[in-house]
Amino acid sequence: MAEQSATREEIKNALIVALDVPSYEDASAIVSELGDAVSFYKIGLELLFDGGLRLAHELRDAGKLVFLDMKLLDIGNTVEKAVRNIARLGVNYLTIHAVDGKTLRAAKEGKGASELKLLGVTVLTSLTKEDLAEQGISESPQELVLRRARMAHTIGIDGVIASGLEARAIREAVGSDFTIITPGIRPVGSAANDQARAMTPRDAILAGANHLVVGRPVLNAPDRKIAALAIQDEIRDAFSTLKQ
Ligand code: C5P
Repeated sequence: MAEQSATREEIKNALIVALDVPSYEDASAIVSELGDAVSFYKIGLELLFDGGLRLAHELRDAGKLVFLDMKLLDIGNTVEKAVRNIARLGVNYLTIHAVDGKTLRAAKEGKGASELKLLGVTVLTSLTKEDLAEQGISESPQELVLRRARMAHTIGIDGVIASGLEARAIREAVGSDFTIITPGIRPVGSAANDQARAMTPRDAILAGANHLVVGRPVLNAPDRKIAALAIQDEIRDAFSTLKQ
């Protein structure tokens, strides 16, 4: 019964593969290898400067979903105009830093009536309590994540990037009408690499994530397609549990 509720497309779209590779050639080879198994890709700053935008156009034209991880932060006028141009590219998701309301409102203005969804980056996971104190912020990273997620939600931003641990608290704070995208995913048995607070695909979905961003567990797998399909199996299982 629950299996019928989550369609194959929804399960596929819940996995976003991060194309964290240095060049257009490397990235397109991975996209070809993954073929129909993967429908959603993240392009970050590294790839942007080696054919990332060309690849974004090609992915869009091939019917794939595209997430541009640009983490914008600037004065309102600049952010608004940048988001307006990005919205014209026809990509699906864009990240902006969710540190102040002015930036978020400007991004929302730039997005206008387009289909682009804006995702706030609340607190970089590399920042510790000491790093925040250096900025004059006395809250813990967790408190700050929650406060900024609430602000982004109130302003009308579509969602946030959040670790699996933060996802649950954010979901409880803002409800279901807010997209949570979770990186730091490690299927059982895969290497943690530098992700200190990794979660399995199943646990992240159960914690409230709508999409998972996965890089190395797919990119470094001996068979990338099998690795992606195994993650989608875990996602299917978690969706079924949620809908029971
Ligand atoms: O290789 P791995 O699965 O760890 O890649 C995770 C992806 O998610 C990378 O593109 C990384 O930049 C991104 N990310 C993250 N942690 C965050 C935000 C983004 O790992 N807090």
